[in-house]
Amino acid sequence: MTELSPAEKKKERKLIVIWSVTFLVLFPFLVVLGYMMRLNQAERIHLGMDTFYTLLTLHGLGMAGILFSISFAALWYLIATRYARLKTGIGYFVYALIVIGFSLLAFATLVGKFGAGWYVLYPLPFKGTFWAPWATGLACASLLTMGVAWLVGIIHVVSNLAREYGGFTNLLGWQYFKKGGVKRELPPVVMITTISTVPGVIAFLTGAVMLVMYVLQIFEPTLNYDPLLMKNMVMFFGHTLVNITLYCCTGWVYCLLPEFTGRPWKSDKIVVLSWNATFIFILFAYFHHLYMDFAQPVALQYAGQFISYLSAVPATAVTLFGLLAQLYHSKIKWSAVPLSFLAGGAGWAIGGFAAVVDSTIAVNTVLHNTTWVPAHFHTYMLMGVVFFIFGFIFYISHTKEELDKDILGRVGLWIFAISGHSFIATFYRGGLRSIPRRYSDYSGIPIEHVHQTGMFLAFMAVIFITIIFVALVIIYTALFKKFAKRRHALVMEPAAA
Ligand code: HEM
Repeated sequence: MTELSPAEKKKERKLIVIWSVTFLVLFPFLVVLGYMMRLNQAERIHLGMDTFYTLLTLHGLGMAGILFSISFAALWYLIATRYARLKTGIGYFVYALIVIGFSLLAFATLVGKFGAGWYVLYPLPFKGTFWAPWATGLACASLLTMGVAWLVGIIHVVSNLAREYGGFTNLLGWQYFKKGGVKRELPPVVMITTISTVPGVIAFLTGAVMLVMYVLQIFEPTLNYDPLLMKNMVMFFGHTLVNITLYCCTGWVYCLLPEFTGRPWKSDKIVVLSWNATFIFILFAYFHHLYMDFAQPVALQYAGQFISYLSAVPATAVTLFGLLAQLYHSKIKWSAVPLSFLAGGAGWAIGGFAAVVDSTIAVNTVLHNTTWVPAHFHTYMLMGVVFFIFGFIFYISHTKEELDKDILGRVGLWIFAISGHSFIATFYRGGLRSIPRRYSDYSGIPIEHVHQTGMFLAFMAVIFITIIFVALVIIYTALFKKFAKRRHALVMEPAAA
């Protein structure tokens, strides 16, 4: 355990409060973009195709970017205050780069009209575009800036943990299989931080190479790349980013939930084995995004299905079983923190199941590129990751007594859960009724009942998103009351300390 001086603790708390407030500001802004897209699909407003795809791009990339950033920042805070010394200056450097990267992305999309979607499907950013090449360049620069920030942060955290725990293999928990027993227990959050972020390094480097290739083509238009290679690269980058965001969140659930249940949640051979298997699966599960690419080697398609199935078992099953074992008969008080963790676990399980269904080749031939796809990833990102993040922010903003007394936060979280799942249900229903994803509206679909169904479901979504805004106002009131109360003294005792 790391012992920090009160001044050092204050610095770390200030950093995580800044991160939390930044997330709380950017998140509803990006939800508004989703709201506008659904309004357009419901034919209640008319954005025009260019604006729709611009908003889709900023929404998708922005959400994925800020969710990973706050998830990593939360792990940083827990590691720095408990397990290894980290340099707060580097933490601020990472924060500054992310803010710059996000601002550049907002400029490239909202002003430059860059609208290639997060997947930038090659040769899309160069052929048939409605935006200028500088906007493509700026979007690449913004992602490279964020990528550099994440790489710097991850390398700093993992190298300091390795120094503290006697080497990289000890961070992976391999000492649990050595003869002679374990000399120093490995906190699960330390292992999960390593296993989530190291594959991230490989994915970010791949993403960086791909972005540089795009930039080179802006300057040298005669360049021409293999579209299948570009698609493999972008899917590996994007899938891994979203996947590890979810795993980062489980890190703090392992770390914080025991403070509420009073039961230890330790590393053992099963936990180590399952997370080590996940390390491999994270890297190869993305193949299921390429089922429709017939030029992709067939063996990789089968590997995609096989690994997608396997990847659902170790970390997910072991973690969710552990979560239930923590809670079962634990006489826990259902404050906002455990409530968020349970809801997040449920979102992860439901969305994960829907993802496995879609990764089945026979099913994918029907559901591919329908709104089933946004349905499943919104389930584990919005109803999973965002819940875990709210749980964490409640943890750092409230004391234990305040959490026990807080009713507002809990009411907000319940409304958020009900309206969030209802909003996502419109995507699932759309998938089952063959409503295509990424259509700015459905008016061009020649089959009238598909057009009408898509429009109706989008309108239902608009109603549910309006209720999500109500939930956010309630949750934010509960959180900001506490942040405001302590604005002069950022050192406060976290929830269960
Ligand atoms: C209440 C919150 C949210 C709303 C209202 C919303 C709304 C939407 C809508 C309407 C679409 C377009 C779907 C289509 O027709 O293809 C979309 C796509 C997307 N959303 Fe969300 N979303 C929300 C939360 C999130 C979160 C938390 C994430 C986190 C990663 C996220 C990531 C994405 C991504 C990656 C896409 C796909 C972009 C693409 O196809 O290129 N969204 N969202």
